[in-house]
Amino acid sequence: VTRVTFAAGSSGDWLIESISAVRGEELPRARHLQRLEGEAFASSAQAVWLLNGVRSHERYVHRDERERLVAVQPPLERATADRAALIPIRKSTAWWALAQDERRGVFEAESRHISIGLEYLPAVARRLYHCRDLGEPFDFLTWFEYAEADTAAFDELVGRLRATREWDFVEREVEIRLRRV
Ligand code: HEM
Repeated sequence: VTRVTFAAGSSGDWLIESISAVRGEELPRARHLQRLEGEAFASSAQAVWLLNGVRSHERYVHRDERERLVAVQPPLERATADRAALIPIRKSTAWWALAQDERRGVFEAESRHISIGLEYLPAVARRLYHCRDLGEPFDFLTWFEYAEADTAAFDELVGRLRATREWDFVEREVEIRLRRV
């Protein structure tokens, strides 16, 4: 399994432009962020904070949706993508108490997460990491990369998703906006 550590501190490829608590507790300020993917979690004595996650299988995507995603989704680390966002999210116990089919119902039938998201591809590249079972403070670490010119589109995307019923189940969310050093 591919592991990731997001390390915030005084060095890293990404300059932290802002850290804002959308819901719940804030994360401490830092200057830089590094996304470290590998076989092991990274550790750093200098880091202000570290968040760990793993890449995992898809829970909700149907085959036709996957085909639509694969047809348009861009890779990470495009030279043109000089902006990024790390958005760690924790969902409520009410969410985790739902059955799988109920969660899928909220996620797509009610909230149209995939349909909305698809409108912003290929401008936005994304990667989802899971961390609920790692004893971490969040359930998900969501990562996005885009060009500066697509900042307003990305702002609109997060605004639309936050207005959905899925977000009624979000109890902690921090938005970290980044610029490539
Ligand atoms: C760029 C457009 C986006 C697309 C195409 C997209 C697509 C998806 C897809 C397909 C999944 C389901 C993965 C699975 O089957 O397990 C997912 C999950 C998720 N996405 Fe997005 N997404 C987008 C943007 C966002 C944004 C901006 C946020 C945060 C503000 C976000 C937060 C999440 C979270 C937290 C999950 C996990 C939900 C759960 O398992 O309960 N997504 N996304």
